[in-house]
Amino acid sequence: MNQLPPTADVVVIGGGVIGLTIARSLALRGVRDVLLVERARLGAEASSAAAGMLAPQAEADEADDLFSLCCQSRDMYPTFAAALREETGIDSELDRTGTLYLAFTDRDQTEIEHRYDWQVRAGLNVQKLEPTEARTLEPCISEGIRGALKFPNDIQVENRRLLSALIASNEKLGVRLMTGTTVESIRIHRGGTEGAETSRGFVSTGKIVVSGGAWSSFIRVPDAAFPKIHIEPVRGQMVCFDSTGSPPIARHVIYNPRGYLVPRRDGRVLSGSTTEHAGFDKVVTATGVHSILSNALQISTRISDLPLVGVWAGLRPRAEDSLPVLGPCEEIRGLVFATGHYRNGILLAPITGELIAGAIVDNVVSLDLSAFSPDRFTGVGLNS
Ligand code: FAD
Ligand code: GLY
Repeated sequence: MNQLPPTADVVVIGGGVIGLTIARSLALRGVRDVLLVERARLGAEASSAAAGMLAPQAEADEADDLFSLCCQSRDMYPTFAAALREETGIDSELDRTGTLYLAFTDRDQTEIEHRYDWQVRAGLNVQKLEPTEARTLEPCISEGIRGALKFPNDIQVENRRLLSALIASNEKLGVRLMTGTTVESIRIHRGGTEGAETSRGFVSTGKIVVSGGAWSSFIRVPDAAFPKIHIEPVRGQMVCFDSTGSPPIARHVIYNPRGYLVPRRDGRVLSGSTTEHAGFDKVVTATGVHSILSNALQISTRISDLPLVGVWAGLRPRAEDSLPVLGPCEEIRGLVFATGHYRNGILLAPITGELIAGAIVDNVVSLDLSAFSPDRFTGVGLNS
């Protein structure tokens, strides 16, 4: 699409996994005139950089609002991926083998004991494995393992294939996808959204979704009373090996408390990551790769002979309290947020799409989203 239309029913800002999922959900609910505006290329930022793990249990230390949202979204994935496959013919390679979490030190052991205890008390599906049991399940695991947990419900998706499926689905549903176009500001009139000023001109609309990932705070909203939400970029570097030609390294996603290995169906093995406050710089550094490799080698010495075929970095979008920012903004009619998904944007995509589309189309938010409300920052004087 080359020309910016003068009007749209809804403008979605950002073509990452979040914007694409929301645009699709809106179209599926019958909104006819959805315009998604993407600064550069669709799906090319954090959403492609991600590992695709759908693993709330492996990463959680307690049952809080975020954990509950993540588990609900994970459980939507089989239906979500199947529907996308049906619509587009693209298989997102949802893999339900499960996730292992390994301990190598006393501290790791304490961590997994705690995780096991609270999850068993909460009635969640988690299993404790002896080192020999874990190594029987995945012979690649290093001998230094002291204990392990298995999370059968924590799964993975091939996020780049998922993005291709989302793009194809949006195209089929008639969503207008405008790339190479930046939304610079949102025009407000009498407390309501009037439209978006973009690098290609103005588009008039009463409804705007801010889903610009780590860049969300650059979109200007010229209204003094507006609670400006500060989203910061948190860099994550990744390393990719190629195991084609050798027997598959592993079937499960395998974590230790410092990193993870993610085996893909095509023989690639992804390893991550770092958590760095380095501004908008997406470079891959020697220190980053070094720390990823040492964690990966602690999990499995079998990776030491694999060809290293790629490195990259992405910017996770993080709000001040590390929670996503979801839902309509009280102060400005028609302005809706879906950003700050930080480490969980792939995981949270299906539920975000449903909640945001529901809020826009039916004016109903089907879950209590107060913990994630954009209005939680009111009065804090946040600004980018
Ligand atoms: P993005 O994918 O960054 O997309 C935002 C888009 O908005 C970009 O394309 C950008 O160009 C566009 N944009 C921004 N501003 C504007 C504007 N003004 N006008 C027009 N367009 C604009 N999550 C998981 O759930 N599981 C994982 O295993 C996982 N692993 C990760 C590993 C790494 C190394 C990293 C970096 C992240 C990982 N994440 C994971 C987190 C996940 O990638 C993010 O939470 C998610 O991709 C955020 O999606 P998004 O659509 O909000 O942002
Ligand atoms: N959720 C994995 C990561 O952000 O690295």
